[in-house]
Amino acid sequence: MPGTSDTSVESQKPIVVASNRLPFTFQRTSKGLERRPSPGGLVSALEPVLRKRGGTWIGWPGTDVREGEQLSTRGEAYRICPVLLSETEIARYYHGFSNRTLWPMLHSMPVRARFDTREWESYQRVNERFGAVTAEEATDAGLVWVQDYHLMLAPSRIRKELPDARLAFFMHIPFPPHDVFRVLPWDKELLRGLLACDLIGFHVRSYAQNFLDCVERSLGARVDRDAQLVEYGDLTTRVGAFPLGIEFSLFESLAVGAPKKRESDQKIVLGVDRLDYTKGIPERILAFQRLLERYPEYREKVTLLQIAVPSRSQVAEYRKLKSEIDELVGNVNGRFATAYWSPIQYLYRSFSQRQLAAIYRDADVALVTPLRDGMNLVAKEYVACQVDDPGVLILSSLAGAADTMREALLVNPVDIDGTAEALHRALTMEEEVRRSRLAALRRRERRDNVDAWVESFLQRAVGAPATLTPFTDEDFAAWLSEFIGQYRLALFLDYDGTLCSLQDHPSQARLSKRVRESLGACAERDDTDISVISGRSLQDVRSMVGLEQLSYAGNHGLEIAGPGMADFVHEDLAHYRERAEEIAGDLEEIALGGAWIEAKGPTLTYHYRAVPENGRRALIERAHEIINQAGYQARDAHCAVEAIPPIGWDKGRAVLHVLRTRYGASWSEAVRVVYVGDDQTDEDAFRFLAGLAMTFRVGSADTHTAASRRLPDVEAVRALLRWLARRRPKTR
Ligand code: UDP
Ligand code: G6P
Repeated sequence: MPGTSDTSVESQKPIVVASNRLPFTFQRTSKGLERRPSPGGLVSALEPVLRKRGGTWIGWPGTDVREGEQLSTRGEAYRICPVLLSETEIARYYHGFSNRTLWPMLHSMPVRARFDTREWESYQRVNERFGAVTAEEATDAGLVWVQDYHLMLAPSRIRKELPDARLAFFMHIPFPPHDVFRVLPWDKELLRGLLACDLIGFHVRSYAQNFLDCVERSLGARVDRDAQLVEYGDLTTRVGAFPLGIEFSLFESLAVGAPKKRESDQKIVLGVDRLDYTKGIPERILAFQRLLERYPEYREKVTLLQIAVPSRSQVAEYRKLKSEIDELVGNVNGRFATAYWSPIQYLYRSFSQRQLAAIYRDADVALVTPLRDGMNLVAKEYVACQVDDPGVLILSSLAGAADTMREALLVNPVDIDGTAEALHRALTMEEEVRRSRLAALRRRERRDNVDAWVESFLQRAVGAPATLTPFTDEDFAAWLSEFIGQYRLALFLDYDGTLCSLQDHPSQARLSKRVRESLGACAERDDTDISVISGRSLQDVRSMVGLEQLSYAGNHGLEIAGPGMADFVHEDLAHYRERAEEIAGDLEEIALGGAWIEAKGPTLTYHYRAVPENGRRALIERAHEIINQAGYQARDAHCAVEAIPPIGWDKGRAVLHVLRTRYGASWSEAVRVVYVGDDQTDEDAFRFLAGLAMTFRVGSADTHTAASRRLPDVEAVRALLRWLARRRPKTR
């Protein structure tokens, strides 16, 4: 298996885990800050991992810490690194964006989501902070492992600081279909944040597939579904399903060891959940009520024991749900209770694992009916604790756990009648059937336990880095065949960083033989017109490419010349030539440490590639200042600052000029446009052409782009040119 050889070496190094929650949460009580175990499946999953392997756990201690208050973070088998949040951040990042926006969206419940820009900004800031702290902690880590929806942007921040780190992410909740995810106004930013990882894990295959759909359709990333790889610019990310397991033997032994408390011959149907609207608690109570209506013989014989762990009570939706459940429990109990029996025993509190194990063991039926759940560990823990009389697991088909726990009685949780019938079936199931279903469930959970989960994840995470096969003709055919069809093609290409890789000095950036051949072959076609559009001067770019039949636009399109067009020179060019000379003079003061000025007529470029990294910041700032003070626009390019005249002319306008001149006002009906570029100045063209053309941004994926797709490097551009040159000729 590729890459497994690395595993043992890398796994000697410590793991650094970052999650919103630490394994314990501090709560402010009259006695000061009290430390309690944190709720939820994420902590249940990771605590045993860190306990056994050691490492560092970075997270929020669960409250706003006031001056003078001490957090006791000692006593763990691993290092704890707290990230403190202010009250406003807790309100906006945690209760707000994480729990009111991402939680419902990722659970495919968009009508419950709210979208608030201030909360999004806070989410960005807190992710930035988590990223910075994690990068600092992880300089020598074997793996940096970011967890869950609270920290979807942190990976890209970590990647900036630690370009060579092994970086992985695990999503503990579902990932919705593209049609739902794209409702999020910040969908692209969140996806890009994650794609800085080497590996992104989900509980089940369908979540991973949804993620692949999203990056393909929203970002235009290249996706290999069979290999489960994503290529986005120069990043390649592996995606996979890693179904979470539990500490099976721990639960089993707790169940074996727990004292027997229950004497009654009442049958117990058990529900254990955080009080959360995704858990389907009201529907479950209604199903239990339906059972009592339809089958009166269960009255006084069966009790629903519902444990609801307080959760996120600062969020209005959760408070509303609490009232709804209180009322429902009251109604059912009021309607059916007798002097010695209440149909529902409702406990609004949390229990330790030890206490839970006994409760699980003694329950005849576990009714696990979330409306949507990433995995659901309660279902697995119940199975592990069935060490006596075999019980029955009723499981929502909408929980991730249902993917593998096929021997459970699967129900649709909103189907109240269906769930009531499943309850009846469970309560009347013969022992032999119960035993054989349970045996299969237990066998699987014992094998696929939390250790197996972490092993399979880590093996993938520290294995050989993923690489996608180089671009093939099929990729371009899938993207472009239908789009171009029988039309004439107007192809626009940037030069530096697009047709040839960036060099220390512009004079060294020459076309390779292979690119020249492919470009020449494209240009030979009589149904294809090519324009090279560059920040270089017209003369310079023309001589660098040297193909006569092409059009050229120099100085970001201020000068354009080519076959079938009158030469174009922007009317203010002469004036701006003079101004540019003055700016060049002013910039001389910072032509230091290898920085130099390229005069290109009306525009100029300040190049600082040769300046050591630690000396660049001040020079860049000063360059911006000089250029802006002269009334020019300063634009960042690759290791350069461009000075562009303030005449509202850019590569987008230049493209329009070429299209209108060549094909007339209705150019969009005459040709299909493809544009390929690699830097900020090409973004003007991408924006202008959005929806009208197929646009490609070449190179690094850490910046936003308005292009429809990304290509990793010049080699991929060459593959595109080769495909364009060979595409089926126009038959019209
Ligand atoms: N849990 C607990 N005490 C309780 C109720 C639940 O420790 O009183 C634990 C339970 O053992 C399980 C986790 O909380 O490990 C719940 O995880 P699950 O995946 O079922 O749901 P989540 O809360 O993560 O949505
Ligand atoms: C789920 C999430 C966890 C979260 C837990 C408890 O399991 O996946 O990330 O920690 O719920 O929710 P809370 O908001 O209290 O952390």
